[in-house]
Amino acid sequence: MEAVLELKNINTYYGESQILRNLNFKVEKGAITTIMGRNGVGKTTLLKTLTGLLDPATGTISLRGEDITNEPSNKRAKKGIGYVPQGREIFPKLTVFENLKLGLQARRDNVKKVPEDEIYELFPVLGEMKKRMGGNLSGGQQQQLSIARALVGQPEVLLLDEPTEGIQPSIIDDIEAVLKKLKASGNFSIILVEQSLEFAREVTDNYIVLERGSVVLEGNSTDLSDAQLSNYLAF
Ligand SMILES: Nc1ncnc2c1ncn2[C@@H]1O[C@H](COP(=O)(O)OP(=O)(O)OP(=O)(O)O)[C@@H](O)[C@H]1O
Ligand SMILES: [Mg+2]
Repeated sequence: MEAVLELKNINTYYGESQILRNLNFKVEKGAITTIMGRNGVGKTTLLKTLTGLLDPATGTISLRGEDITNEPSNKRAKKGIGYVPQGREIFPKLTVFENLKLGLQARRDNVKKVPEDEIYELFPVLGEMKKRMGGNLSGGQQQQLSIARALVGQPEVLLLDEPTEGIQPSIIDDIEAVLKKLKASGNFSIILVEQSLEFAREVTDNYIVLERGSVVLEGNSTDLSDAQLSNYLAF
């Protein structure tokens, strides 16, 4: 397996409380890796540690073999780590198009123009609503905007934190189709945090399951059974 990202001995704390414990794993290039586990096990903390929003107390993170552990989050974004946070975090008082423009900050090639055709082909609804305020979109449309904004930055590794959480089924299907297209393009490695095994099964190549901040199960989707995985899930 060719690894795009590698974590060695990562321990992350909030103040005195240890959240991530001795994480060691590799993320396969060009594949979708899903991080699973119940509420509060540290999935978001893991993504924030990868983006540089949180500093691990120990350990190293390498991107394509380069140590990025001490790089701030804006530099990591420029190096190709795209982030779609849990709860979406779009700007409600900016239009859809203005939200998309913010994604340009992560571009390495300093292109100053949103690739609108590509984005609206993936998310037609954003083309229709480009002048609408972000805050006036439905939750599912905001989720699509958040993914689109990350894609404008042309990430090599895309981190998605529970993109289907609280989203209506028809938009979940759209997001599934987008993830499949991104994977098929061969230009992305994706780390997906997801609690729905049904959704994960549709798109995932590899699984990493966390419990209390430690990896308790990992493997590829053909090797792991539903029973093994749902052991560590809430439902
Ligand atoms: N800012 C913070 N300060 C202190 N503790 C925090 C903070 N954010 C999260 N935690 C704690 O860290 C632990 C892991 O939280 P995290 O958000 O990473 O879990 P999660 O797996 O993403 O959960 P969920 O599935 O609910 O999103 C939890 O016990 C949580 O209460
Ligand atoms: Mg979370």
